[in-house]
Amino acid sequence: MPILQMIGITKQFPGVLALDNVDFEVERGEIHALVGENGAGKSTLLKILAGALAMDKGRILLDGKPLHFSSPLDAINMGIAVIYQEFNLVPYLSAGENIFLGREPRKFNGFVDFKTLHTKAQAILDRIGANFSSREIVSRLSVAQQQMTEIAKALSQNAQIIAMDEPTSALTEREVEHLFEIIRGLKEEGVAIIFVSHRLEEVFQIAERITVLRDGKYVGTKRIEETNRDEVITMMVGREIKEKIPKRPAPIGEEILRVEGLTRKGVFSDISFSLHRGEVLGLAGLVGSGRTEIARAIFGADPLDGGKIYLEGKEVRIRSPQDAIRLGIGLLTEDRKRYGLVLPLTIRENTSLANLMEVATRGFINFPKERAVAKRFVEELAIKTPSIEQIARNLSGGTQQKLVLAKWLFTKSKVLIFDEPTRGIDVGAKVEIYELMNQLAERGVGIIMISSELPEVLGMSDRILVIHEGKIAGELTREEATQEKIMHLATGGSLAI
Ligand SMILES: Nc1ncnc2c1ncn2[C@@H]1O[C@H](COP(=O)(O)OP(=O)(O)OP(=O)(O)O)[C@@H](O)[C@H]1O
Ligand SMILES: [Mg+2]
Repeated sequence: MPILQMIGITKQFPGVLALDNVDFEVERGEIHALVGENGAGKSTLLKILAGALAMDKGRILLDGKPLHFSSPLDAINMGIAVIYQEFNLVPYLSAGENIFLGREPRKFNGFVDFKTLHTKAQAILDRIGANFSSREIVSRLSVAQQQMTEIAKALSQNAQIIAMDEPTSALTEREVEHLFEIIRGLKEEGVAIIFVSHRLEEVFQIAERITVLRDGKYVGTKRIEETNRDEVITMMVGREIKEKIPKRPAPIGEEILRVEGLTRKGVFSDISFSLHRGEVLGLAGLVGSGRTEIARAIFGADPLDGGKIYLEGKEVRIRSPQDAIRLGIGLLTEDRKRYGLVLPLTIRENTSLANLMEVATRGFINFPKERAVAKRFVEELAIKTPSIEQIARNLSGGTQQKLVLAKWLFTKSKVLIFDEPTRGIDVGAKVEIYELMNQLAERGVGIIMISSELPEVLGMSDRILVIHEGKIAGELTREEATQEKIMHLATGGSLAI
């Protein structure tokens, strides 16, 4: 008897049939991957499992017994825990307080018994090999540590089913390894794991079965040893596509951006490079090596302690992102929630926000023009949405990422910095984003691309800078670059071997 059966689950949003009669089954102690393109319905299915969203039709059986939610707490009491793409932690409380939030052990006088709380929380954190104290404030924890806090919270609730929505997307390779150890340990204890990811290599590494959704429909379930990547991709997109990176080298023009000796104390130092029109400059390196911080400093989001920035040969002072945008420098960030989008606004409003002048006539927003621009982007980027009036918050994770892109494309930037442009984006949409980068380069835009995915760095860059501990460890041309050389430089080696 499977521990979980979801049968005929249907969920309609205004204009979008997010789930259409979907079946999904998980065995006790099984690691089950749930995959599909952006907007396929994965997160919606998990929200229904958590009782956070009501379904329109369908049944959920737990151990064969029907489950009826009257509140999200029911799922927790039934042993179901869902860890979302955006975590659900209170940033100013400690890890331990978050783990027992709403269920704090109390003293006889009714006050929270912090000593017991932290002892219990620490025991769970230790059990999953966490290397931090349960007294640490959540906002000071790394992404990986916050995730461990979420897992500890699920375990403190005796969860029998733990669903994780893209848990690895912001982790370093080593952290992913650790997460996989935790997942395998939980499996040994009989916990069923639902694992959502766009990274098929990870899915094939950890999962025992894969279920594929496409456009809200159930496509099929396969045992991992009976299938392969190509088959899963075909199931996901409904047609055969090769995971290829369609680089079209653009003519490389004159220098557009030059930085000299950029330094931010304790973060990076003495960063000098130049970027030409039509060029894609890859910034490789480990997560935490300082790549994102360099980009943020050029964009004026963080202060510099030293160094100069030249745009088209002239020295420029960039003290804020507004300065950078005015000069024609755009930054597409990996953290779309914090820097990229205004979630309560619509697609139309978000696309025009980065450059209101463009859609304004004599100081007033020209609404027909704004609508036309938004429509064009929705078409060009194949953004899945019933209308341009959809609120950004209601879009799937990957669709939000595409919208961030649309926003910057609209600014007619001279220099665009992409920070992990395809994180959380499905295989088909990735190719569309590479294609857009090609077009931008052909238009003469200079592109800096930060990426942790080596095939992407190798595939799209004309030239690659490898960053190690805040310094440029080496430069490679497109021709000479290999995965081994990049990893060698990124981990502190030199090329003279
Ligand atoms: N609250 C909502 N209101 C309206 N539409 C929604 C809402 N939540 C999700 N949708 C729509 O339902 C569909 C499924 O979205 P969902 O978030 O489940 O996709 P996903 O498979 O998790 O995609 P991704 O890989 O991009 O995270 C999308 O078209 C999305 O825009
Ligand atoms: Mg999702």
